[in-house]
Amino acid sequence: MRIVLGVAGGIAAYKSAHLIRRLRELGHTVTVVPTADALKFVGAPTFEALSGQPVTTDVFDEVDKVNHVRIGHEAELLIVAPATANTIAKIAAGLADDLLTASVLTTTAPIVVAPAMHTEMWHNPATVANIATLRARGVHVLDPAVGRLTGPDSGPGRLPEPEEIVAFALAAAEADTAEAGTTETAAAEAGTAGTDSAGALSGKRVVVSAGGTREALDPVRFLGNRSSGKQGIALARAAFAAGAQVELVAAHVDSGLLADLPAGITVTPIESTLDLQAAMATAAEHADIIIMAAAVADFRPARLADAKLKKSGDEGMSIELVQNPDVLAGLVADRRPGQFIVGFAAETGDAAHTAHEYAEAKFRRKGADLLVFNDVSADRAFGHDVTEVVILAAGDGASDVVDAATLAGTKDDVAQKVVAEIARRTTPVESTP
Ligand code: CTP
Repeated sequence: MRIVLGVAGGIAAYKSAHLIRRLRELGHTVTVVPTADALKFVGAPTFEALSGQPVTTDVFDEVDKVNHVRIGHEAELLIVAPATANTIAKIAAGLADDLLTASVLTTTAPIVVAPAMHTEMWHNPATVANIATLRARGVHVLDPAVGRLTGPDSGPGRLPEPEEIVAFALAAAEADTAEAGTTETAAAEAGTAGTDSAGALSGKRVVVSAGGTREALDPVRFLGNRSSGKQGIALARAAFAAGAQVELVAAHVDSGLLADLPAGITVTPIESTLDLQAAMATAAEHADIIIMAAAVADFRPARLADAKLKKSGDEGMSIELVQNPDVLAGLVADRRPGQFIVGFAAETGDAAHTAHEYAEAKFRRKGADLLVFNDVSADRAFGHDVTEVVILAAGDGASDVVDAATLAGTKDDVAQKVVAEIARRTTPVESTP
């Protein structure tokens, strides 16, 4: 991919050197466009040597090449890291007084901004408003990390580590490209208008549950299920790439899946259904959107043994189970006005009803705004990367009409489409004066 890396003039400019190296290791072409101030922190030869490309700053350098238009046009992804409060303000205002801001203004590629500044600047209402403007326009803004700043102060404002910026930027580019490429297909498949998910959940607080709960039997044993957590994690990433503030309530998930999550996603680990219920109730107090992708155990052992259970002779063993609360139903019952709730269901058909019929009945029973279901009759869903789901939603006409849209693809594809569908249903339609 042809990536343009804009570097603004902050002390964190030194981290852009690692960023260039990492992007090039991944096979991308990187053109660095520093501001004049950035060059006071890192010299042009460093950027040129690391990127293997010439570096210019001013719109009046190499005028014959029309750089101020060409660079933005050729970019397939434009990252500004670090983005200072000043550069963010200029981008928000649409100024184009140097090569970096001119390139931002001319590009149609996905734009990722990684701010770095002192905490006071980050919290200043001017910066807050500028960030909101960028997000509303579909710019992907990575929240700064919390930690030690340039002076003795610490707080939010640190540039996230290059690895995090790379992961966030590539996920954002992928989300935008997938959206652009599949909008028509998805709209045709879904029978709905397509939605560009870039920035579509900007400013929204989203909580996603993922993975399988584990119900302890004794200190070493539990009752669990085969959920990998992949779909829930893909949803958390997709919501984050769409600009949302995301909390992931993670039951047990396959190893490594949480390791490379973008730093901006808050992870709350839980184990049992009762833990999940408590964590979701807390998160729901502030959430605009709740996505229950966790595979929840409907039952738990009636008693938790203090010591490891022992065999006694040849006798079999019975475990008494008690029913767990229905977390999703509880969230629906307690929902705040305007809160949007999504459920998931894995269904199998039988002689009496198809999986689809069971899913529709569950959708009506649960009262969620959307129910995403997959047919697991043929053991197709758990742990696999490619999946096929049906999104059920109340039809626009009568409340007993259910819209069904079939989506297929990787779990990331499905996550992006589900996020686009949520955005379409939660973003108020702007009225024209
Ligand atoms: N769910 C939940 N709490 C439970 C069980 C399920 O919150 N105790 C949620 C899941 O996270 C999912 C949705 O409800 O979003 C449907 O899960 P599923 O296991 O299919 O539903 P059940 O109510 O357990 O239905 P069934 O009778 O088919 O087991």
